[in-house]
Amino acid sequence: MRTFTDRVAVVTGAASGIGRALAARFAGEGMKVVLADLEGEALATAARELAASGGRVLPVPTDVARAADVETLARRAVEAFGAVHVLCNNAGVAGHPAPIWEQSATDWEQVVGVNLWGVIHGLRIFLPIMRAQDGEGHIVNTASMAGLVSLPNLAPYHATKHAVVTISESLHYELGLAGSKLRVSVLCPGFVRTGIMDATPPATTAEMRRWEDGYRRLIAAGTPPDEVAVRVVDAIRHERFWVFPNPETKVGFEVRVQSILEERNPIFQPFFD
Ligand SMILES: NC(=O)c1ccc[n+]([C@@H]2O[C@H](COP(=O)([O-])OP(=O)(O)OC[C@H]3O[C@@H](n4cnc5c(N)ncnc54)[C@H](O)[C@@H]3O)[C@@H](O)[C@H]2O)c1
Repeated sequence: MRTFTDRVAVVTGAASGIGRALAARFAGEGMKVVLADLEGEALATAARELAASGGRVLPVPTDVARAADVETLARRAVEAFGAVHVLCNNAGVAGHPAPIWEQSATDWEQVVGVNLWGVIHGLRIFLPIMRAQDGEGHIVNTASMAGLVSLPNLAPYHATKHAVVTISESLHYELGLAGSKLRVSVLCPGFVRTGIMDATPPATTAEMRRWEDGYRRLIAAGTPPDEVAVRVVDAIRHERFWVFPNPETKVGFEVRVQSILEERNPIFQPFFD
């Protein structure tokens, strides 16, 4: 999609981190931006701040895990701005570090609800609207490098992010086969400096606290979200499917693919002390 000015973007998880940076970047490109996030002060503040710097924004409290909320989001976006040209299915949660035998059904449901059902509802509900417009448009699904490698102690997160990668690839093929003008990208960051660990339930053992602290340190030292947003806008403009803000992390994927191709058992390489 070459033209951004006066077009409409919908961003989920827009009150914080990568989503907030995406919303600011789209507003900076002259787009109208629908900010979707859980109801609360963070969403109101993000909308107020973007509006104060000249952005045309509409905050819509949304739980992306709930189909009815995502339907309301789509309806309100179209009512307010007449169309949707860019959809960023970005809202996500990390879950808490624990081995699979300590992840409860509720732990799985929370992570799958936001990270996977959120993307599914976004696609199910917005694709018919965007296809019917019969013009240029772009969907960005936020996965992660966690969608291309498997690590211990965050299995629900990795499972959902792998799912987001494969759904995005299927959609890419399907749009091509249908001759659609819509495009899709999958965003696979490494560590990004955001509030993602703030929503993480406290670890229950000393060993899991060590993992949680390790992730917190890596995220605190991660890429600024603004840099990720620049990459995303560039990928939309140049119709690039894969978005890797941290290309150095691809080495983990390479090691994994080699072990699959050579049928060697996976070997875990610790990535923090
Ligand atoms: N931070 C990283 O290192 C990193 C790396 C790779 C991928 N990601 C992905 O980036 C995306 C954005 O995360 P972030 O790092 O900016 O975290 P963040 O916590 O700063 O932002 C996520 C936003 O999503 C919102 N959210 C959570 N549950 C929601 C729900 N049910 N409905 C609507 N909104 C909801 C939160 O309120 C928050 O505002 C996520 O999908 C995450 O998995 C993050």
